[in-house]
Amino acid sequence: MTEYLSYQFTDNQDVVNTFDELPLWSAAFGLLLLKHVHLQPDITVLDLGSGTGFPLIELAERLGTSCKLYGLDPWKNANDRARHKIQSYGLRHVEVLDGSADNIPFDNDSIDLVVSNLGVNNFDNAPVVFQECHRVLKPKGKLALTTNLDGHWKTFYQVFEDTLLQLGKTQEAEQLLEQQAHRGTTESVSRLFSTNGFKVTRFYQDTLEMHFLDGSALLNHHFVKLGWLSSWRDFLPEEERVRIFTALEVNLNASAKKSGGLHLTVPMLFMEGEKDA
Ligand SMILES: C[S@@+](CC[C@H](N)C(=O)[O-])C[C@H]1O[C@@H](n2cnc3c(N)ncnc32)[C@H](O)[C@@H]1O
Repeated sequence: MTEYLSYQFTDNQDVVNTFDELPLWSAAFGLLLLKHVHLQPDITVLDLGSGTGFPLIELAERLGTSCKLYGLDPWKNANDRARHKIQSYGLRHVEVLDGSADNIPFDNDSIDLVVSNLGVNNFDNAPVVFQECHRVLKPKGKLALTTNLDGHWKTFYQVFEDTLLQLGKTQEAEQLLEQQAHRGTTESVSRLFSTNGFKVTRFYQDTLEMHFLDGSALLNHHFVKLGWLSSWRDFLPEEERVRIFTALEVNLNASAKKSGGLHLTVPMLFMEGEKDA
C-alpha cells in the first residue's frame, strides 16, 4: 500500500517533457470538468477525444487504481504521446485506444462514466457520438462534457466583422457570422443530450478571460494559429487574405490601444447527463 514512499525524484528528459505539456486552453476547461465530475470507486471511465492524455491521465490519478480508464482518439501521434506519459508515470489502470467516438469499441452497457473535454458536441456527426455514448453506458451511467459556447471571443469577432464590412466584403462578413452561429448554446447542448436518451442532471457555466497585448500578439500566438487560424483564413479569397488580415491586425491593435489590451472572454459550459434507465 505504501509503494509511493520509495519515490525519489529523478531529473531526466522524461520528467521535464511531461512537466510542461498542457495547453492553457485545455487546462481551463479541464479544471471545470475536474471541479464538477463525480468521483466514485470501482468504475470504468472513457475519455472521448483524449488527445495527448488530458484529462484522461489526471482523472486516472485522481480516481486511483480501483478504477479503469480508457482514452479514445483517432489522432495517432497524440495517442502515442499519451501512452508515453502513462508509461512514464507508471500507471497501469489507464489505456489509450486508436479510434473514433462515432464507433466506440466497447460493448453495450459496459461503461460507468464518459467524459469529454472540448470534444463530443464538436465532433463531426455529434448526434451519432451521443448515441454511441448512450449505447456503451450502463443504465444510469453519466456523460460529462465541457465546451466553449456561442459568444466565444466576441470582441475579436466584432472587429473581424467590422473589418470585412469596412473592406466591402459583405458576403464574407455573413459567412463569418454563420461560422459563429454554429457554436453551441447551453440550450442546444442540452438538446443534444435530451434528444439522444439522456436526462441533463447538472450544468455549470463559467467564463475564461484571456488578455493579449494587441492583435499582433493574438494572431501570432502559436496556439491561436493551431486552433483557429484556418477557420478565419480559409473562407476568404486567397488573393485577398493579406489585405484583409493586414486591416484586421491594424483594427485589433487600435481597439487594444483604446481598451488597454485585447480582452477576450470565453463562455464555458460543464454539462452532465444521465442515461435514461
Ligand atoms: C480540442 S481537442 C481536445 C483534446 C483534449 N481532450 C484536451 O482537453 O486537450 C479535441 C480532440 O478530439 C479528437 N477527436 C476529433 N474527432 C474525434 C472523434 N470522432 N472521436 C474521438 N476523438 C476525436 C481530436 O483528435 C482531439 O484530440
